[in-house]
Parts: sequence; C-alpha cells; structure tokens
Amino acid sequence: MEIDFESLRNLMKSNRTVRRFNEKKEVSEDILFSLVELTRYCPSGRNAQPLRYAIVNSKEEKQKIFPLLKWAGYFKEWDGPEEGERPAAYIIQYLDTKYGKECLCDDGLQLEAITLGMHTLGLAGCIIKAFNGAELSKILNFGDRYVSRYVLAIGYPREHVQLEDMSGKDDTDFKYYRSADGIHHVPKRPLSELILN
Ligand SMILES: Cc1cc2nc3c(=O)[nH]c(=O)nc-3n(C[C@H](O)[C@H](O)[C@H](O)COP(=O)(O)O)c2cc1C
Repeated sequence: MEIDFESLRNLMKSNRTVRRFNEKKEVSEDILFSLVELTRYCPSGRNAQPLRYAIVNSKEEKQKIFPLLKWAGYFKEWDGPEEGERPAAYIIQYLDTKYGKECLCDDGLQLEAITLGMHTLGLAGCIIKAFNGAELSKILNFGDRYVSRYVLAIGYPREHVQLEDMSGKDDTDFKYYRSADGIHHVPKRPLSELILN
C-alpha cells in the first residue's frame, strides 16, 4: 500500500479541534465503533493495550455529560457550544487499571488515531481533559477498575479553524483565539523552533 507523505501531512494539518457542531446531524453507532476499532492498530507501551472506550450517543446521556465538560479554557466569556451546536456523540476513553496505573502515551496516540479517522469521514471534535470525572462516573459506572482519561466530543463541524504560523511572533503567545468573523485561529510554532540542534 502506498500513502504519500503530502497527503498525510495535509490530513494532519487540516485535522483541527472543533467545538461547534451541527447537532442535528447524528453520528451512527457503526461509525463510532469503527473509530474505536482504529485504536487496535496503535502502538502500545509493553503492548498491554489497557485503554477502553464508552460510546455515548443517546440524547439522555449526552444531556447529562455536556455540563461536566470545560470548553476552550482561554475563552473566559464562552461556556461552550450552545444548544444546536453541541456534539452529536462522545467517545470516552478509560484506563483499565488491571494492567497498571498508567498507559504511557497510549492515550494520546489512540486519540490522534480516532480524530484522524473522524476527519476522513467529515467529522471533527475536541479532546477534553477538563471534565468532572467524579460526576461522570455517576452517569457511566463501569466500576473502580476503569478510570476515565479523556472525553472526545464528536460531530459534524460548524466552525472554521485556521492555523497561524508563529514565526517571528512572541513565542509565548500561543493562545488560540476567535476573530469577529467567528473563525477560530490556532497558532502553531515553526519547525525552526522545534529542532534543537
Ligand atoms: C491533552 C489535551 C487536552 C485537551 N483538553 C481540552 C479541554 O479540556 N477543553 C477544550 O476545549 N479543549 C481541550 N483540548 C484541545 C486543545 O485546546 C487544542 O488541541 C489546541 O487548542 C490546539 O488546537 P488544534 O487541536 O486544532 O491543533 C485538549 C487537547 C489535548 C491534546
């Protein structure tokens, strides 16, 4: 199989975090299962594969989960997407502590695999770490063995995101921002800043 570098680069470059969705457009359970299936092919520390997923797409569960999430920490005036622009589904990542108390970087690798898969299907989403895990475990309780790590909000995007090159700018000015036209801007460091030698 041949995959060219430029296609991969473009896929990664356009795979951006989105926080406003077309809530009316549902995401089928089949798609959500297929996205989780991608994680099977990710590298895994010790090959322990300790991560598990809960799939949430029922209206009742979504309504309960939404208030537990903190959106866009830099946007102090914004409480997250309004009704009609909320996620169509969530995939929640858990660590099965039977296999150890940590998962090295398995969590991030798997989230990237899922979001890239989403992107190829016209979906987008937001990886969320700032959520109320204690309250979440009251809604979805799989027992103490499973510790929630991330909530991935998913939907069909209703937001334009633009990357900004940080070249020549203040290297501490990395906050994303929204311009008056509603476009979400994400500064990214130049390659020259990433390579040390
Ligand atoms: C580990 C991690 C945790 C994150 N947690 C949150 C979060 O709690 N809430 C949120 O709105 N966005 C969260 N994000 C999304 C980041 O804000 C987003 O990735 C960043 O602004 C860069 O945008 P980009 O993904 O389009 O490159 C998180 C992303 C990562 C990788």
